[in-house]
Amino acid sequence: MINSKIVGLGAYVPSNIVTNDKLSEFVDTSDEWILTRTGIKERRVSIDEDTSELATRACIEALKNASIKADDVDHIIVATVSPDMFCPSVSCIVQNNIGAVNASALDINAACSGFLYGVKLANSLIKSGEAKIVLVVGAETLSKVTDWTDRRTCVLFGDAAGAAVIKATEENGIMAVHTMAEGDKWNALKIDGIPVRNPFVKAEERAHYISMNGQEVFRFATRVIVEATRKVLKKADLNISDITYIIPHQANLRIIDYASKKLGFPIEKFYINLDRYGNTSSASVPLALYEMFQEGKLKKGDKIILVGFGGGLTYGATLIEW
Ligand code: UT7
Repeated sequence: MINSKIVGLGAYVPSNIVTNDKLSEFVDTSDEWILTRTGIKERRVSIDEDTSELATRACIEALKNASIKADDVDHIIVATVSPDMFCPSVSCIVQNNIGAVNASALDINAACSGFLYGVKLANSLIKSGEAKIVLVVGAETLSKVTDWTDRRTCVLFGDAAGAAVIKATEENGIMAVHTMAEGDKWNALKIDGIPVRNPFVKAEERAHYISMNGQEVFRFATRVIVEATRKVLKKADLNISDITYIIPHQANLRIIDYASKKLGFPIEKFYINLDRYGNTSSASVPLALYEMFQEGKLKKGDKIILVGFGGGLTYGATLIEW
């Protein structure tokens, strides 16, 4: 039977660090508010690197760690809500940058759940026999769609990219996937942009920035992080006690704390790096997985759940055996 497995990881973050104190210099906020309400201490903000550049660097490292050549890649899937431009896709630019001449390439938009949607697609492509090697990337430069005068959002987000090489194998790897959307709440998290339905209408002045009903998204997130985790456990016929780590979307420490209590899963077994990067949307889960790999925390046979939620509103989870 064909399975799919993550065989290489890469990540890249811009070098420019913006601390909570730095933000407090130009917007009415404080380190104390941001830390206690979210757990975030600092984030990375790109100065001159676009999303495709972050994604490219993450992909090059992931391929190197997987010992796979770029021209062996069959598909590139980039999950992003902050692409370089409407067209072409970030994935086509990445394809060119890394020399993946035999790959097809497309972007997907499932906001902060994007990487998990990408993993689901990669898993399906591999299991159907359509592909043997798929690069799944979450990459964002949210700083360019952040309203730096809006304290409700500008303290939350950061720039980053994370990439995974997913390969056909007979070993255990991706054991269960689940994604879902609740489009009735589409209005809760938006990046409006120019009005493409009627380009002759002038865009509202701040329409190209992220706007969010934080409390609505918070309620959604605390519910679905638990639901999605339970769903993949059920699909894989496992219990929470079989799980070594949960890698959650890094939006808010309070959401992770809630999930820990509700699932009866110790907070120490959730990987958390939001204090250093903030919410990097589709990049957050692969960046966290990459850091665990770099820190030598992932052992063969470990069962790990990746879980995320975000704009759409969307959510998803994946249960993998390392
Ligand atoms: O990745 C996509 C998924 N996104 C999420 O999961 C985000 C989910 N939501 C959240 O994490 C939280 O709702 C936030 C962190 C966005 C906000 O935290 P909150 O505890 O829900 O705060 P709030 O919106 O209820 O605001 C409380 C107060 C308000 O003041 P008043 O009206 O009580 O006087 C805000 O104006 O805090 C104020 N406030 C701030 N104060 C200082 C909001 N942002 C700030 C700020 N600094 N940055």
